[in-house]
This record gives sequence, C-alpha cells and structure tokens, in this order.
Amino acid sequence: MVNVNITDSGKIIRDHDEVCGFLGKRNIRYERWDISKISSSERTQEAILATFNEEIENISNKGGYTTADVINIDPKTPNLESMLEKFKREHRHSEDEVRFIIDGSGIFFIHTEQNEVFSVEVEPGDLLSVPAGTKHWFDLCQDRRIIAIRLFQDRSGWVPLYTGSGIDGKYEPVCFGLSYIGNRGDSP
Ligand SMILES: [Fe+2]
Repeated sequence: MVNVNITDSGKIIRDHDEVCGFLGKRNIRYERWDISKISSSERTQEAILATFNEEIENISNKGGYTTADVINIDPKTPNLESMLEKFKREHRHSEDEVRFIIDGSGIFFIHTEQNEVFSVEVEPGDLLSVPAGTKHWFDLCQDRRIIAIRLFQDRSGWVPLYTGSGIDGKYEPVCFGLSYIGNRGDSP
C-alpha cells in the first residue's frame, strides 16, 4: 500500500481514499492492480507483460502509451548507484512517467508548481503516473531492488530534463513501508 509523506508538514497519509484524493487533486494517477495475479516464480518480462496485458491496454488507451517494458534492478545490478544517480536528481519529462510495481519498493518525490514537495512511497500493486512536465526525482528504498512495468508514449523511452535546482539534496529518501517499521534508522 502506498504512503504519501507531505514532506514539509511531516504528515503521512496511508488511507487509500485519502491518498487517491490527495494525488488526484494534483493530477497524479494512482491505482491498485491485483498483484496476486502473478507468482514470484514467473517474473520474466514476457510473463509480467502478459499477466497485466488487460490493465496495460486500459491505461494505455487513456494515456496514449505505446510501449511497455519491465525494469528489474537489485543490489547486484552493475553500476546500480551510478544508475540511481540519474533518477535521484530533480528532473521532468515531456511525457508521463508511469510505473506499476511488481516487487521491491521505491520513493518518488514530487515538486509541484505551487512549490509543494511530497513523497510517494510505492510498493507491489501500486501504479503511479507522474504527469508530463512535473518536477520529480526517485530513489529505491532500503532493499535496493525493484521490478516495475514502465509505460511510454514515445519509443525513445526515459529521457530526463534536469532542473539543476539541487532541491533533491534537501530531502532524505526515508521509506516508511511495513517492512521498515522498527528499522527506520537503517533506511537510505
Ligand atoms: Fe523521472
């Protein structure tokens, strides 16, 4: 289940309806898909895309997405930290950033035009769509792993437009998911 941390106020929202309301007002799509449809033994890109084909088609029709792939990273991924450095600096895209989490967890920071900053911690079953043009950055949670479906409008895929603001350095990527309760001091 997703957590939204309204960073500057310290308020954390966990209630599903409240989360949907908060994000919806900011034009951020959040959905829950049935993660139990896929077992842990069939997590190839092919199997994942086939299992969620109907959901992908539905959201693609709404958002104009033409391409889907699966990103799969864990602590053994070569050059993991240098890869994460690209995600961890504030940027925007010319298209929506759409992710459906299959495994692992991560934290998106959103920086609105009203100068509000909040984080959205995503876990398996969460779909988040950061609208085109929205300033944001991303980091992994403590387990340093994620498997996620990515949807794109443009076949050129993930193109970041960095703002260079440095605001990302002012916020700690602390995850509060159930797996971290009692162990927050170790969170990245
Ligand atoms: Fe991004």
